[in-house]
Amino acid sequence: MKNVVRLEEFWNNFVRIFPDTVEVQGAIVACFLPIPVTLFNHVTNVNTTEGRAEAFLKAIVDHFSSTGLPFVCFRVSPSTPPSFVSLLERHGFEKEKEQSIMVLDGEPLGNGINLRVTVKETNDIDAFDRLVVKGFEMPSEWKEAFDKLVAPFKGKDVKHYLAYLDDRPVGTVSLFSTSKVGCILNVSTLKEYRRNGVGTALTAHAISESLKAGNNLHTLQTDRGGEAEKLYRKIGFKSDYTVSFFVKNLEYTHDFFESFFGWLDKTLPQTQTQEIAGCDLLFEFPNEMCGARVVQISVRHQPKPRIERASTLLGQGFLIKKSFL
Ligand SMILES: CC(C)(COP(=O)(O)OP(=O)(O)OC[C@H]1O[C@@H](n2cnc3c(N)ncnc32)[C@H](O)[C@@H]1OP(=O)(O)O)[C@@H](O)C(=O)NCCC(=O)NCCS
Repeated sequence: MKNVVRLEEFWNNFVRIFPDTVEVQGAIVACFLPIPVTLFNHVTNVNTTEGRAEAFLKAIVDHFSSTGLPFVCFRVSPSTPPSFVSLLERHGFEKEKEQSIMVLDGEPLGNGINLRVTVKETNDIDAFDRLVVKGFEMPSEWKEAFDKLVAPFKGKDVKHYLAYLDDRPVGTVSLFSTSKVGCILNVSTLKEYRRNGVGTALTAHAISESLKAGNNLHTLQTDRGGEAEKLYRKIGFKSDYTVSFFVKNLEYTHDFFESFFGWLDKTLPQTQTQEIAGCDLLFEFPNEMCGARVVQISVRHQPKPRIERASTLLGQGFLIKKSFL
């Protein structure tokens, strides 16, 4: 926990760049609506007092409801008041996942870099985003959303790199440097080229670029206990502390239903108009890496346009988990 103050400050500044981020009573509501997953949509930097906590929580829930996101999420770090975490639990929030905030401890261990892998900086954001979306196994429609996320980072100290295995682009990494902290992001290898040392080469390259940029702290975050954590440990990263994502699904009231479709209209292209019989549908977003989300929507007795809009969910990679005919 040596670097918690510095790294939390870093995270706060990083998520402030997301296009839809706002501040609510001193907390930062990190928000990027086109990608409705907790990593891009959560509350951080909570420092409310016990007396104000209930009112603060209500303000946050109201804010999430107004955006049309189907959940509320808090990122709990060692700086979050423990009494606030108890309040979240009393209100039915559940821990969805934990992430290790890792820092490089000493010199990077450069053993076993595959010489068939080369890593080069790229300014071709289009090609980079396409590869990130594929590498993270996100729905291809999110490529456009990624382009929107990259834009506000222009002019900041962000660099993007591609890995080539025998001259074929197969992996990505980014480095964001600020206040002498180098944060390694977007490490991904296309599924069919994994376990060839590409992820290792990308991370090692990002470290050497971070050193060149004059940073004195090199960091990244990853799912605690996941496969990528093993990779980072092999290179010399150690977990400095853990953050948890506490999530509650919003109730699907009429208002929520209306704003959810409002959000769909605003953010997603109409890609499918497949017929869905009038029924209640349980949609599930199937990508665990991005945080699986389950959304239940009643389309029974809804007019046809509403049903067509529900079908856009299918076009965005949601699956019908169950239908209640
Ligand atoms: C994580 C990821 C980047 C690893 O890429 P990669 O090119 O396969 O990584 P490497 O070949 O360099 O793997 C290095 C070591 O990490 C560990 N590792 C990586 N993937 C693993 C897996 N699926 N299972 C077990 N260990 C794994 C192993 O120790 C491996 O060494 P080994 O192959 O000699 O056993 C890749 O799986 C990926 O793109 N995943 C999806 C995106 C993602 O989650 N990125 C991480 C964001 S924090």
